Amino acid sequence: MNKPLPNSFRAGPDDNGRFGIFGGRFVAETLMPLILDLEQAYAQAKNDPSFHHELEGLHKHYVGRPSPLYFAERITEYVQARSSADKGAKVYFKRDELNHTGAHKINNVLGQILLARRMGKKRIIAETGAGQHGVATATACARFGLQCVVYMGAVDVERQKPNVFRMKMLGAEIRPVQSGARTLKDAMNEALRDWVTNVSDTFYCIGTAAGPHPYPAMVRDFQSIIGNETRVQMQEMEGRLPDSLVACIGGGSNAIGLFHPFLDEPTVEIYGVEAAGHGVEVKNGHAASLTGGRPGVLHGNRTYLLMDDDGQILEGHSISAGLDYPGIGPEHSWLHETGRVTYLNATDQEALEAFQLCSKLEGIIPALEPSHALAKVFQLAGEKSRDHLMVMNMCGRGDKDIFTVAEHLGGM
Ligand SMILES: Cc1ncc(COP(=O)(O)O)c(C=O)c1O
Repeated sequence: MNKPLPNSFRAGPDDNGRFGIFGGRFVAETLMPLILDLEQAYAQAKNDPSFHHELEGLHKHYVGRPSPLYFAERITEYVQARSSADKGAKVYFKRDELNHTGAHKINNVLGQILLARRMGKKRIIAETGAGQHGVATATACARFGLQCVVYMGAVDVERQKPNVFRMKMLGAEIRPVQSGARTLKDAMNEALRDWVTNVSDTFYCIGTAAGPHPYPAMVRDFQSIIGNETRVQMQEMEGRLPDSLVACIGGGSNAIGLFHPFLDEPTVEIYGVEAAGHGVEVKNGHAASLTGGRPGVLHGNRTYLLMDDDGQILEGHSISAGLDYPGIGPEHSWLHETGRVTYLNATDQEALEAFQLCSKLEGIIPALEPSHALAKVFQLAGEKSRDHLMVMNMCGRGDKDIFTVAEHLGGM
């Protein structure tokens, strides 16, 4: 069903880990043997049915997959009521917020933790922004009795308190990072430093489709369960493929997971939504790397980044801790340049409005990250015909964000 075609958008990366000019592995010499070990271990696991069997068992019995594909009837009615007579797409949510731990992050973590076990690694490190990847990693480490150290920017420690508490309950050690803007980029810097220092026993579990090769492709493969399930479920519910897909982008893992199985379907329109924060024209006020950035190298790969004229990385801003990364996974940079995927952005304000609408219309409190995608769904769905099938990845639940939202809405 999902075999790559010749001239496929699904064939990458090449042997050097590149998607066109993006990706690669720009790492310290000390890390190279580790990266090569990981690449080899992943290549073996990918071809080993027992690896897939174990992962599928965990997805089914531990995570609760498949996540439902849900027809968002009241949002569809809302959009149709505000559009001209024949407009207003049918909106579906892929409900990855119902996964154990509340987001898509666990899909990737379980894959990497099984790999770490195969490689005999006993100590797991991770970076986290919103805390969802940290919680997922702490969860899997508890499940398998592994030591877990999570690097988290001190600002994020403050704004994601419920997730910090969860990680501690799960037995993880949280290391607040005080350098830079004290957010996700800085947490990833520290995690990479830790990895270089503890080469023999440590596995670095990266939470998004970024970092040096093979991480972007490996994380994408683990997250592709989102798109693969969507294909099957849409076929069962509507008898055909969706017409469009929409997902939010921090580093890009939930988005590439939904998009990848559909990249070679020319009838499927694909939209990624970055965080426009206070507006893409505001310096240091957004995290829209594709709209407001240019290609450079960060965290081991070449990709679009927010940089000043000297090439120094600018701090990203978003109301959602999971979207303020000043870069984007390299495959997205390539999909942007080839034009296969259209990248849009949504402001903090638009996300807050979508957050409230979704809560009231569907009884689903979304995380602030997918609220960005949702903001564009309201707009895009209103432009499409009524037989158009639009799928948005509801990649996280909003429990972790209620304090941030309350603050912005004046306490409620
Ligand atoms: C719920 C949720 N959605 C989306 C993201 C963004 O990550 P990615 O772009 O890798 O999916 C995060 C990151 O923390 C998250 O917690």
